[in-house]
Amino acid sequence: MSINIKEVEKEFNHKRVLDKINLNIVDGEFFGLLGPSGAGKTTLIKILTGQLNPTSGCAEVFGCNSSGLTDQIYRNIGIVYEKSGLYDRLSCGDNLYIFARIYGIQKQRIYEVLNKVGLSDSINKPVQKLSTGMKQRLIIARAIMHKPKLLFLDEPTSGLDPVSANSIHNIISEMNKNGTTVFMTTHNMSEASKLCDNIALLDGGKIIEYGTPDNICFKYNKNKQVKVIFKNKTEIISLENLSEYLSKQKDKSHIEAIHSLEPNLEDVFIQLTGKRLV
Ligand SMILES: Nc1ncnc2c1ncn2[C@@H]1O[C@H](COP(=O)(O)OP(=O)(O)OP(=O)(O)O)[C@@H](O)[C@H]1O
Ligand SMILES: [Mg+2]
Repeated sequence: MSINIKEVEKEFNHKRVLDKINLNIVDGEFFGLLGPSGAGKTTLIKILTGQLNPTSGCAEVFGCNSSGLTDQIYRNIGIVYEKSGLYDRLSCGDNLYIFARIYGIQKQRIYEVLNKVGLSDSINKPVQKLSTGMKQRLIIARAIMHKPKLLFLDEPTSGLDPVSANSIHNIISEMNKNGTTVFMTTHNMSEASKLCDNIALLDGGKIIEYGTPDNICFKYNKNKQVKVIFKNKTEIISLENLSEYLSKQKDKSHIEAIHSLEPNLEDVFIQLTGKRLV
């Protein structure tokens, strides 16, 4: 088990920010924590990474209480924050070299990770000359240099264009396929649907829904309808009647597409909380 959270509560100045959070994340899982701004996502990451203590309850990372993580556990964790500091005037290579020295990582690994995140050509480029997407890839390169078994990503694609976001999805997805457990927060519903094995919807400090993205969407699929798109018209029919409906169509070549109309994650979230995620 990578993460085990039991009844975790967090208060700031008597204001409850996390309320009885229970979660298990198994080794190799890609987990997504979703929720509107102020829901408590970063606070939970800070508790799990030992930067904040819970007011009550207990969070364990690799079986170790997060309030007293050992160096050994820290060596198996990588963290990517929204605003992880990079040294602007230093090159990409030197930014990683500093980190490699601290962690006792071989210099060769700098070339490996820069290659992994597609920044090999920018090794000598100062960070201040990188685009936002390139900076974010460098931050990820730094977080994975020591080959962590567990990677925390706090809104890794926030503010990025779809192409940059996609290249980050590919990097973290490949890491996960190679066995790294991922704990990611995001406001991006399609990102969560695409990448996560399980997600939790956090609102007002409480987990209000949990499961696989598909199962959550199916759970709230009350109408069970499909949309049949023809070359010149569109029809909405019930899933139950689909097969009969199709058998009555004389010329099926006029059908362009059939879409199921279950809600997406964003629809579910709005339905549950009455709030938009962004
Ligand atoms: N150090 C702190 N002291 C006091 N209040 C805090 C502190 N850190 C966070 N909070 C409050 O806790 C709540 C949750 O904040 P948190 O940053 O965890 O939300 P979030 O879900 O990460 O939001 P976002 O999506 O905007 O990043 C907010 O109301 C915030 O103001
Ligand atoms: Mg946050």
